[in-house]
Amino acid sequence: MYNPANPASRYRFPTALTWVLVLAPWASMAQEVTVLVAYHSQTGNTETMATAIAEGAGGDDVTVVVKRIGEVTKEDLNTADAVAVGSPVHMGDVAVEVRQALVDWAYGLGFWRSRGLQNKPCAVFATGGAPSNGKEFTMLSMALSMLQYGMVLVTPYGGLGASATTGIPEHEKGVGEHELEEARNLGARLVEVARLIKN
Ligand SMILES: Cc1cc2nc3c(=O)[nH]c(=O)nc-3n(C[C@H](O)[C@H](O)[C@H](O)COP(=O)(O)O)c2cc1C
Repeated sequence: MYNPANPASRYRFPTALTWVLVLAPWASMAQEVTVLVAYHSQTGNTETMATAIAEGAGGDDVTVVVKRIGEVTKEDLNTADAVAVGSPVHMGDVAVEVRQALVDWAYGLGFWRSRGLQNKPCAVFATGGAPSNGKEFTMLSMALSMLQYGMVLVTPYGGLGASATTGIPEHEKGVGEHELEEARNLGARLVEVARLIKN
């Protein structure tokens, strides 16, 4: 409403209209993010966890790319706003295929020199046959490499990453529902942080 005693009031209505028509829809739009889930899996357990991370990350304005780690390209990494990496435990440590890829990203794909992964949020996940037999170490090992790239480690609340104890060969149990839920939660948190960083 124009108030002759206050000439500035003539601008109130147009300013409010601009907000409603132009800025409000823009402000309510979610930030679009792309999440890359890269994993190695020999017998399917880590792949199952990768799928659960992807499910948790998925939603409006989110593109999720799930790939075996050896097939990840430079473009995949450049395009990703967030990266989750998963490995089975092999002899108490990260699988050689994952270690190889994390080194290749640095030198083969040039991300060490370009600093192209810096500030991207990342998360780790692992599966191992037996309890207390390398899952934490495997996740820490992957996390250390990703921290070297200047990435920002996103953890599930109260943990390092998402993991599953899949059982020894005679008592193979696969990935349990609560472990899948942990993976979905981590995927969702990765997107939450990716949006915060991208804004
Ligand atoms: C070569 C090899 C070494 C393994 N070493 C370990 C180990 O040290 N600790 C462990 O808990 N599980 C170990 N496992 C079991 C796997 O980590 C477990 O079965 C995992 O869930 C397999 O994941 P994948 O189905 O994605 O390949 C090993 C399996 C293989 C094939």
